[in-house]
Amino acid sequence: MPGTGELDYWNARFDVEEYHYGKAPNAFLARQAPLLRPGMRALCVADGEGRNSVWLAEHGLEVTAFDFSPPGVAKARRLAAERGVTVDHRLADIYAWGWDAHAYDLVVAIFIQFAAPRERALIFAGLARALAPDGYLVLQGYTPRQLAYGTGGPPVAENMYTEQLLRDAFRGLDILHLAEHDDIVREGKRHNGMSALIDLVARKSA
Ligand SMILES: C[S@@+](CC[C@H](N)C(=O)[O-])C[C@H]1O[C@@H](n2cnc3c(N)ncnc32)[C@H](O)[C@@H]1O
Repeated sequence: MPGTGELDYWNARFDVEEYHYGKAPNAFLARQAPLLRPGMRALCVADGEGRNSVWLAEHGLEVTAFDFSPPGVAKARRLAAERGVTVDHRLADIYAWGWDAHAYDLVVAIFIQFAAPRERALIFAGLARALAPDGYLVLQGYTPRQLAYGTGGPPVAENMYTEQLLRDAFRGLDILHLAEHDDIVREGKRHNGMSALIDLVARKSA
């Protein structure tokens, strides 16, 4: 569970004019555009300053997004207004989120590796629970090799993902795509340079 230290950390990062991870969507999420249909209900968890939720709304999705950082959510709301789209941006702690069952056609979890294994298990169960039948989970994170690169993410080995870890965690879903790859990421100042990534697209059976 988060301490005030973690909240202070994120508030300090987001409480500046500049968008920490930029205003463009995460590149892996953007590559999933062919899956998107207007009217799909999407949930963006730990959405930060809104780059992903706003992009989904621009594609006609009905988007709910949350983050626990007030300056992060304020910037997400500003970005939505700037782009002329509607997103239900909420201020919420992921550990207090309700995870209504079967509520979303798309659940997006991009770089949420603040969670240690015990908390991560609760979050992953929530992500799967929130998916409607036929709904997609889109998740990107780092593998343990990222610790050597140091180009983003917390320097905490146990928070990293492996293919086996994700396969086990989401064994109730159909895995459509699961791949580890090292690539250059340019997403703001904090995610910048060669990175050890892991990508997952999974679907809940109808
Ligand atoms: C690496 S950033 C990624 C933000 C966003 N997903 C993106 O790709 O731009 C991690 C985010 O997790 C949020 N976060 C950390 N702990 C959280 C918690 N307990 N509940 C909700 N959000 C949390 C932070 O505020 C931050 O926005």
